Amino acid sequence: MIVKLKPVYPLYLNNKAAQPNTDLVVTDKYTGKPAFRTALATPDVIDEAIAGAVRAAEPMARLASFEKQAVLNHCVTRFRERFDELAYALCVEAGKPINDAEGEVTRLIDTFRIAAEEAVRNYGEVQPLDISARAKGYMGMWKRVPIGPCSFISPFNFPLNLAAHKIAPAIAMGCPFVMKPASMTPLGAIIMGEVLAECDILPEGAFSILPASRDGADLFTTDERLKLLSFTGSPGVGWDLKAKAGKKKIVLELGGNAAVIVDKDADLKHALERIIFGAFYQSGQSCIGVQRIIIHEDIYDKFRAMLVKRTKTLIAGDPKKRDTFIGPMISEKEAARLDGWIQEAVAGGAKLLTGGKRDGAMLEATLLENVDRKSKAYREEAFGPLAILSKFKKFDKAMAEVNDSKFGLQAGIFTRDIHQVLDAWDTLDVGGVVVNDVSSYRVDNMPYGGVKDSGLGREGVRFAMEDMSEIRNLVIRRV
Ligand code: SIN
Repeated sequence: MIVKLKPVYPLYLNNKAAQPNTDLVVTDKYTGKPAFRTALATPDVIDEAIAGAVRAAEPMARLASFEKQAVLNHCVTRFRERFDELAYALCVEAGKPINDAEGEVTRLIDTFRIAAEEAVRNYGEVQPLDISARAKGYMGMWKRVPIGPCSFISPFNFPLNLAAHKIAPAIAMGCPFVMKPASMTPLGAIIMGEVLAECDILPEGAFSILPASRDGADLFTTDERLKLLSFTGSPGVGWDLKAKAGKKKIVLELGGNAAVIVDKDADLKHALERIIFGAFYQSGQSCIGVQRIIIHEDIYDKFRAMLVKRTKTLIAGDPKKRDTFIGPMISEKEAARLDGWIQEAVAGGAKLLTGGKRDGAMLEATLLENVDRKSKAYREEAFGPLAILSKFKKFDKAMAEVNDSKFGLQAGIFTRDIHQVLDAWDTLDVGGVVVNDVSSYRVDNMPYGGVKDSGLGREGVRFAMEDMSEIRNLVIRRV
């Protein structure tokens, strides 16, 4: 199917399309040329949206479960119908290779499908309170009620699915929201707004999708009418927002420098394909992308040779072409930043095994070894197509190396030893351990989030719904 983007897109204010200006120019990340324009919300517009969300809080909370499910099912149907258009939008605005873009649309549909199921499963609990003589004749029960108007800020690397991980649970829980999508990739969320605007069931003010410049967007963080701020993005920005967010509940999905351990009994052909994918898909721009590969010394030389050979086969170029695996990074500035880190690591004694060349925003898939653990390439979040190899002798030491990070999002281990699996589950200081697959593996109903500098709270629909709600207790005395 041939897809074309429109030249101009609106923002969504209190459920309706609005075009206060066309100030935001969004580029095609591969060609660098303007792709379309959309509006930038001013503080006045954001204020109007928050006021709308406050008005919508009560009617949203009163929506029946089947009504929320109907809205989410409508989105599933429409996203299926608009599959090619959504994938193409990601390909253009994020420079995401078309196969990865289609994978993201599939996950978007999954996320809304999961939310449609969760919308009718908002269970509470009956609790016997007669635990002592003074409570004889009392019983309790609790339910979850929506927290109220929510503020969402979503990142550029998954313009659809990471926005969906906020929007879909909010609808399932009955929370109105205002969302600021990343300015470099607002279209995914705008199309979601277009689909939500088709749903008459939602009360006015249920949602606003407002591209905004970072300077003009303070209200998303500071406005006390908003009861929760859910941010996905870089650790520096996320922790800074938390400091400014006042009394709001905070959910932060931040970055990492994820590691995988490859033990000597691993299926190396399988590990190879998964690690190549986990390190380099969408040019490594995933918070759980494989950055550190910790390999048992007995298989190190063999596996290194396999990794280098396979990395060299990856086709880089136009993300719209089917055989492209490596597209551009989000901007030339980001590619130059990581290029600088690679050069710094090499100047500090690291060996460049393959890659390392840059042309504008295109950076080659790069493998390094002997990297100084103090270097930025090792310690910070690369968020690009770079992976670092190191060697271990004892599994304990490999786990200590995984934990030698200020981050803790997910880790992968390739092993056949169940004892090591259980040790890793106990020991690795991360939000999730993935066995026989990479740190980058995620299914959209699982609890997802990190510890340490990687964030606070969990997404994965059901877990996000918990954050978007408060427990309300009921105590009954039988008389
Ligand atoms: C992320 O980059 O934060 C999310 C990764 C994913 O959803 O696969």
